[in-house]
Amino acid sequence: MSSKAVKKKVPAKKAVTKPVKKRDIKRTAAKTELYASLVMQLRSLLKGEYDFIANTANFSALVYNALPDVNWAGFYILHEDVLVLGPFQGKPACVRIPMGKGVCGFAAKQCETVIVPNVHEFPGHIACDSASNSEIVIPLFDGARVLGVFDVDSPTLKRFDDQDAEGLNELVTVLVAHEEGLDE
Ligand code: SME
Repeated sequence: MSSKAVKKKVPAKKAVTKPVKKRDIKRTAAKTELYASLVMQLRSLLKGEYDFIANTANFSALVYNALPDVNWAGFYILHEDVLVLGPFQGKPACVRIPMGKGVCGFAAKQCETVIVPNVHEFPGHIACDSASNSEIVIPLFDGARVLGVFDVDSPTLKRFDDQDAEGLNELVTVLVAHEEGLDE
């Protein structure tokens, strides 16, 4: 049998042009603007200050107060293989989350951002505030190592999208680079 690849005739796909609603463009532009403004505000808050607790506390307060429709925003810092509650805004939360457990432990273990549209459908979700219905968790990296996570909760289902993931990742990257003196 010939080892030549057989070229299949694939029918050309019809171009699908979806009309973009004006409202969607506006919403997207507003979010881009919001995160760009948050990056600027964060840089100014961090300027000249390298205390990790102070900076993560201000980071949480900045995000919690600027993002609409959130009921919790804060850090869990990795100590050996347990995530321990760090600076946050919102109701008191569970203090220790083992690596791999809950949304936070899952994001830390997978080293990736996790968006949960409905926390009640996430197996093993840890409920700290019964008002939370959706969640986004961003891991903090210093190159190869996970340092912890930044977690944001919302009472609204499907509150977080890719734009939030990008924006929050940028903010977290600015923070970690600053703490490591990489932004000097
Ligand atoms: N829901 C998280 C726990 C932390 S709180 O939301 C503040 C989780 O499942 O890991």
